[in-house]
Amino acid sequence: MKVLLAAGARPNFMKVAPLLREARHRAGLECKLVNTGQHYDYEMSQSFFDYLNIDPPHYRIESGSGSQAEQTARIMIGFEKICIDYRPDIVMVVGDVNSTLACSITAKKLCIEVAHVEAGLRSFDRTMPEEINRIVTDSISDYLFVTEKSAEQHLIREGAPLKRIIFTGDVMVDNLLYQKELLTKEMCEGFDSHHLKKSLNKYAFLTLHRPSNVDNRQIFTNIMSALNDISKTLPIIFPVHPRTRKMIKRFRIKCSQHIHILPPLNFMESLYLWKDAAVVMTDSGGLQGETTVLGVPCITLRENTERPVTIELGTNNLVGVKAENIIRAFKKAIGGEKIPYRIPPGWDGKASIRIWDALLAEK
Ligand code: UD1
Repeated sequence: MKVLLAAGARPNFMKVAPLLREARHRAGLECKLVNTGQHYDYEMSQSFFDYLNIDPPHYRIESGSGSQAEQTARIMIGFEKICIDYRPDIVMVVGDVNSTLACSITAKKLCIEVAHVEAGLRSFDRTMPEEINRIVTDSISDYLFVTEKSAEQHLIREGAPLKRIIFTGDVMVDNLLYQKELLTKEMCEGFDSHHLKKSLNKYAFLTLHRPSNVDNRQIFTNIMSALNDISKTLPIIFPVHPRTRKMIKRFRIKCSQHIHILPPLNFMESLYLWKDAAVVMTDSGGLQGETTVLGVPCITLRENTERPVTIELGTNNLVGVKAENIIRAFKKAIGGEKIPYRIPPGWDGKASIRIWDALLAEK
């Protein structure tokens, strides 16, 4: 069986890695990776490959940035040529970025089966490009690999045939546990090039990049005023995404001296810092799941989440973007009260094993 696996943006690389590593051990399976080039800066793409223990991508598309349509179109054009060249039996896409949408549509129109890893998640917010990507991809996928029960229910409600929905758990967790295992003491010394962990006794860790948060002057200013306030109590480590960096400049956003601004970090550097944070504050999807697995308190700076299990069982607290709510949640998180949490079913590091088992059993 020939599988073409597509990845292009930062969170995709972590999701394909465990699938590629597991594929090596499977007889009768050939799996090639396409990097769609959605993220292209060293810190946003290549740096992620350093510790993933996977081969470099077999194919690469130079899609780059641009409007939603421009980026999606460029990926589709490049991916079509690759599909025609490689002739895969299955195209596998992960997550909810523009590459997920572009590659699934392209494959399906070439009558190639599509497998979607992380299917069925819904924020019910159609202003998010990711929500459109999820809905469209799921509607044409032949295999829907789901990470949590809510996703299964959404797919059933949307009319997906039951036999297409396969509960496998979360490949993001496979990767987290794998990379956590790799974190050696010596490696960490190198990671703390800014000496933050050494110098800060207790700190918060922040990521922020959703267009709904950082592309809107009023919302971004409100969030930052809360964070500036919070940083007086607890220093904040803030690796800044390129989109956010641009908007900080454009809106002339002020960051307090207790917010330690860093360039985008690779997965290991980031993990090294957030795993010991007193609290993580984020608008990322993946980090909501990862903090749940390691039991780190997480404050999600969004109005909705496509991962409700992280709230029901995990350490996640969805607070929205109003300054007073962020500050209240922060005080609660560091107030000393331990949040009871459970690791969601199937988040055990074996999701990629279950995905290949299911696909190979079908073929
Ligand atoms: C994309 C995904 C989002 C994911 C995020 C992770 C979509 C619709 N969005 O959002 O779901 O959470 O990646 O990072 O697919 N840029 C650089 N260097 C790069 C990449 C981007 O400077 O390597 C700049 C570009 O100027 C671009 C901006 O950052 O305009 C945003 O990049 P883009 O790929 O459009 O979306 P993300 O916000 O990264």
